[in-house]
Order: sequence, then structure tokens, then C-alpha cells
Amino acid sequence: MLNFDLYMPARIVFGRDTQHKIGELIKPHAKKVLLHYGGGSIKRTGLYDQVVKSLKDNDVSFVELGGVVPNPRLSLVHEGIALCKQEGVELILAVGGGSTIDSAKAIAMGVYYDGDVWDIYDQGLDIKKALPVAIVLTIPAAGSESSGDTVISNEETGRKYGYGHPLLRPLISVMNPELFFTLPKNQIANGVADMMSHIFERYFTNTANVDLTDALCEATLRAIIANAPRLMENPKDYDAWAEIGFAGTVAHNGLLGMGRAQDWACHGMEHELSAAYDVAHGAGLAVLTPAWMKYVWQDNPDMFAQFAVNVMGVAKGLRNKEALVREGIARLVSFYRVMGLPQTLSELGIDESRHEEMARKCTGDYFGQEEKIGGLKKLGWQDVLKIYQIAK
Ligand code: NZQ
Ligand code: ZN
Repeated sequence: MLNFDLYMPARIVFGRDTQHKIGELIKPHAKKVLLHYGGGSIKRTGLYDQVVKSLKDNDVSFVELGGVVPNPRLSLVHEGIALCKQEGVELILAVGGGSTIDSAKAIAMGVYYDGDVWDIYDQGLDIKKALPVAIVLTIPAAGSESSGDTVISNEETGRKYGYGHPLLRPLISVMNPELFFTLPKNQIANGVADMMSHIFERYFTNTANVDLTDALCEATLRAIIANAPRLMENPKDYDAWAEIGFAGTVAHNGLLGMGRAQDWACHGMEHELSAAYDVAHGAGLAVLTPAWMKYVWQDNPDMFAQFAVNVMGVAKGLRNKEALVREGIARLVSFYRVMGLPQTLSELGIDESRHEEMARKCTGDYFGQEEKIGGLKKLGWQDVLKIYQIAK
């Protein structure tokens, strides 16, 4: 096990009716907040009115900024920073999913940065201060409700960059599984694929002697695989949502990756798809993950055999490890199919014309400074290109 430093302070308030407490939870921390949200689902579901009432009942005043889109844009972040400065906002309340939360985090750190907040993403600057962020989660997927990460798309340069800092860990996250009942099936599936990938990126490692986190990863994956198909049958299944919601947070709050070298190649490759084609992050991951597995498994067959047996329930003989591994991958692909997720890049509307450009951007070769990605197997741009081709 490697040395580690784990700090995961987000307060998670979980369960039925918890969204009504948001004003009371914020009150000790701020008198004035920015209410930040997406394209309007919270108005259609009535959640907006509930949140506003809770703020008013607790004498928390607010200004608002809606319009966050999936793959959230830098231009709206700029607008939010200006609004917060002008209005003296003390906390940002994000009501929505990963996109709204990430936009809120960008605004939270941008308020204290004199230059363009994009510099922080582009140059990996060390921030010193950020406004606190509180959350009412409406889709379990990105794990941003407990992570210190934010991912923003710069529509001028066509780049999508992530940034992480402990100061960006949310102060409070409210999670009521009933708020997920209105999600369309494709968003349920995208979210499930994303949270599974957050575990895979940590699970698939060459680090030995990590039995505890191996088992935590496997248990979380099994809980997701058991409960997610129930949601495709009945999107109002509270118990299944409770499992999936909590799993999404556990998947990305840091715990599962402690003491292990992590991978993150699939996320790197997917961010190129989202940046170039504006595809949903989870859908892109569902296509790339099996292709990545097929390309890298021979670098650590034992790890992939363990996955096949302990996660995908393969009970084949252990003498033919390749058959075991391939069956594990095939079962994962079948699971994604049950969830209605895309299987190929072409299903996502991505042809081969930009494969090489995306591969070279992904590793930095395009910009003249290649840095290989991945952990279990280090990937240069030619490797990434081969994975895009397997996934085509
Ligand atoms: O915008 P509205 O109208 O609210 O609609 C949203 C959006 O269209 C809709 N939705 C959300 N909750 C709903 C709902 N519709 C009906 N009922 C509800 N209860 O769902 C759509 C997707 O929302 P979005 O916030 O984009 O989804 P998600 O949570 O998957 O976030 C994706 C973003 O997170 C980033 C991704 O790259 C992507 O930009 N990630 C952030 C991470 C982090 N900060 O730690 C890690 C992840 O790996 C990921 O990269
Ligand atoms: Zn993700």
C-alpha cells in the first residue's frame, strides 16, 4: 500500500425530504448565496420552489444564475464570478448534477482570483481561497457532491479541463433519492457508467497489498450492478436509488483510491470526446472502458481475472486466464447493453475523422509535449488511437 493523505470533509445529508433543510443547513454559514442551476429541470420538478422556500424561511437571501449545460461552459462561469463579486455572495448553492456543481466550484475559486479563472485549469495553479459550496443533488453520477474536482469546457478553445483542490470539497451535500425519480433513462444509465468508471480508475492498478480497497471497490461495483437495472424497470424505486446515490458518492470521494496508484486513462480519453463532440460523459465512458480493457489487460492479467470473478461473477476454470478475463469484459458489455448505453463511438455520432487529433490532444503530443496517460499501462497517443479504433 502506498502512503496517502485522505481528507473528505463534505457533510452528506441523506434521505427523504432532506432538500427542505437546505436553508437551515446554510444559515450558519452565509446570509447571501448564489443559487446556481441548469437548464430548467429543477423548475419542472418543483424543486426550485422548495429550495427557495427553505432559503426564505431561514432568512438566507439569494441571487440566481441558471443555464448551466452538460459539459459546463466557461462563459457562464465568468458571468457567475462577476455576479458574486457585485452582490457580495458568501456561498454558492448548486442545485443539480455534476455540471452545475462543477460550474459552482469554478465560480467559487474564480471570485478570489484576479486573472481569468481558466488559468487555474490551464496551468494547474494552486488556489488559496474559494467560496464555500453547498449542494442539492439531482443526479447521482459525477460524484462532484463529495469530490474536490471541477471539470469545465472552454468553448473558445474547444478544451475540457479538470482541476482538483481540497478547498473545492463541498461544505454540505443534500441527497434525497426521491429527487432522482424524474431522471430520463439515458441519464440514469450515463450516471451509472460514470460512477462505475470512477471505481475502475482506482481499482485497476499494479499496486499490490491493497486488499481492503480492492474489496471496497468490488462491493461498491456489485451494489451498482445489482441495483441499476431495477431503475430501468422502475425509475421510482427508492431503495435502488438509495443504493445508487450513495454508491456514486463513495465511488468518488477518494476513499476507494487510497494507497493505490490510480489510472484515469479512460477519463482522459473521454474528455476528448466530450470536448470535440459534446457527448455525455458517462455514455463516452461506457464505450471506451471495454475497449481500454481489451487493450491493456495483458499488462496485468491477474487484476483482470480478479475483476471477472469478484465483480462480474465469472465462475470459469482458472487455468485459461484469457478466457476468464474476456468473459469478465463481455459481461460488463452486456450490463451496459441492459442499461441501454451505447457500445461504439459511431453510435455516439463519432466517425474516424478526428481519432488521431483527439488521441494526440489527449496525451499532449498535439501541443508538442507528450505526457503518457494511465497507470496500469502507460499510454502514448498511438495507444490511445488504437483504443479509439477498437471502440469505433
Ligand atoms: O440542466 P437540467 O435541466 O437540470 O438537466 C440535467 C442535464 O440535462 C438533467 N437532470 C439532472 N437532474 C435531473 C435531470 N433531469 C430530470 N430530473 C432530474 N432530477 O440531466 C442532465 C445531465 O446533468 P449533468 O449535471 O450534466 O450530469 P452529470 O452529473 O453526469 O455531470 C456531468 C459533468 O460532470 C463532469 C463531467 O465531465 C460532465 O461535465 N465530471 C465531474 C467530476 C467531478 N467534478 O468530480 C468527475 C467526473 O468524472 C466528471 O468528469
Ligand atoms: Zn467521470
